[in-house]
Amino acid sequence: MCGIVGYIGDKKAYPILIKGLSRLEYRGYDSAGIALLDEGDLKVYKKQGKVQHLVDYAESLSTEGTVGIGHTRWATHGLPNDTNAHPHSSGDSNLVLVHNGIIENYDVIKKSLAKRGHEFKTETDTEVLVHLIEEIKNNSGVSIEEAVRMALREVHGAYAIVVISKDDPDKIIAAKKSSPLVIGLGEDEYYIASDATPIVEYTKNVVYLEDEQIAIVDRHNGLRIVNISNKEISPYVQELELQIEELEKGGYDHFMLKEIYEQPRAIHDSFRGRLNASEGWISLGGLKDYEDQIANSDRIVIVACGTSWHAGLVGEYYIEELARIPVEVEYASEFRYRNPIIRQNDVVIAISQSGETADTLAALKMAKEEGATLLGIVNVVGSSISRITDAGSYTHAGPEIGVASTKAFTTQVTLLAMMAIMIGKKRGTISDTKFQNLLNEMEALPQKIEKLLESNDYIREVAEIYKDASNALFLGRGSSFPIALEGALKLKEISYIHAEGYPAAEMKHGPIALIDEEMPVFVIATSGPNYEKVVSNIQEVKARKGKIIAIVTKGDTSVKEIADHAIEIPETDDILVPILATIPFQLISYHIAVMRNCNVDQPRNLAKSVTVE
Ligand code: M6R
Repeated sequence: MCGIVGYIGDKKAYPILIKGLSRLEYRGYDSAGIALLDEGDLKVYKKQGKVQHLVDYAESLSTEGTVGIGHTRWATHGLPNDTNAHPHSSGDSNLVLVHNGIIENYDVIKKSLAKRGHEFKTETDTEVLVHLIEEIKNNSGVSIEEAVRMALREVHGAYAIVVISKDDPDKIIAAKKSSPLVIGLGEDEYYIASDATPIVEYTKNVVYLEDEQIAIVDRHNGLRIVNISNKEISPYVQELELQIEELEKGGYDHFMLKEIYEQPRAIHDSFRGRLNASEGWISLGGLKDYEDQIANSDRIVIVACGTSWHAGLVGEYYIEELARIPVEVEYASEFRYRNPIIRQNDVVIAISQSGETADTLAALKMAKEEGATLLGIVNVVGSSISRITDAGSYTHAGPEIGVASTKAFTTQVTLLAMMAIMIGKKRGTISDTKFQNLLNEMEALPQKIEKLLESNDYIREVAEIYKDASNALFLGRGSSFPIALEGALKLKEISYIHAEGYPAAEMKHGPIALIDEEMPVFVIATSGPNYEKVVSNIQEVKARKGKIIAIVTKGDTSVKEIADHAIEIPETDDILVPILATIPFQLISYHIAVMRNCNVDQPRNLAKSVTVE
């Protein structure tokens, strides 16, 4: 959470910073602020709310300067107001700093600085850090980069920071630990950002900073990197694959809708070059050297958060069903704090769209210390999780900007299916016929999703009927149970309707008490081994006057007779139903949120990349 940008070069910094902040707004939108250095003058403008508020505010102010930093905030310490907005200034106003992360020992440092006369204007942990840098710089007479390095040795927690100083107008200092930071290298100019999206339109050459590295970006002397122990590091320059068009809405009203519609392409990209049904093979290049280890592992532990955790639950079903290896799926935030048993022959798989989720990253670090093999299923190329894992596979969904995960989820599930099929084949736990059938069905998925998306108008009509609901239940069984959880999460996070997901048979152990004529119940009732049982669950809801919106297989007749509404999905192998069944729920949630005038792409209180625990 929180997005940070920086620029130093020959161009005017302000438009670059504002554009960069708009691209990073998915990381937080409680406030936005910038600082500009212009001929010895250091201007700081900051405003509560979105980047546009800052732009409106700055309209009548000077925005000159070729050096600047900016921040879009997801509040942790202190209310989301103008005062707590970043950048934060030192007591003498010579230094300003933007920060993504949490300084955990800020209170101790703050008290000690206060004793020495520092006065604080904000409730943030960040302001403490800029005062600490100021004190070290003034007392020791060291350079700005040295003062930053010395200050960072005193703080605990997570940080990505960018600092500029009135006394050193030709330098930007950046540093990171546990929060991401990337530096773009242009012609005599440098861009700094939380991810590559603000950089890609200016340069494709980037350096990802590693933990506890400090970058000194000097207008005259270029980029230098040292680590926290002051050891010189050679910058490793990589080329970005990201395309600028991927960051635009492309004619859609919202990123979320665009991303829902991108799923045929995204899923195709996730198996392109990795699967060939006519030749009968499947191969995940990134896992090639680890296939034996996975196939021979005693246990697979999946760690993830939110929607990615739901993908993990589907993965558990896939791997146990097809490869017959025991799987445990853990909330990363719980796993990391409960002294779990991790053995050397365990394989730990992290699933993450952003590759930056703090809890997932911390869970991985813990498993690494215990000697487990770490694999990643990640979307963002070059992200922290992709770098800490021993091996992995990118989902290739392309940038996902809407806060609600859609194509990231279906591509995660696609990869998990591929992994389970591949390991099942290797272990001999699936028959040749099943293997071939699954490959055929996987290749057919993009086309089937295209077909399914044609139901969008009908789904919008259904959404219209239930848009004013206060509560909703989502039910599913087997591998569709995680889809019920995911459907409920989608609805609550973007439309603010309270929703719960349950295994359909669990309803009678409590939630059935909630059912009355006001309660929409979304049920996955596709053909397959659980069909009859789900039909009985639907009858139980109908007997209590609940409203049933069922996801059914094309051609279904029985459920259609009893449900209030039935949304058809194309027939596929039972294993792949979760991928198709989730899409109507994405669309329902999207339309309901739009009808309720909710901010679909940037729902309240949320951020796309959760880099704090
Ligand atoms: O980037 P990650 O996949 O690690 O993010 C995990 C969750 O924060 C994320 O899936 C979240 O639940 C989404 N907003 C759900 O749509």
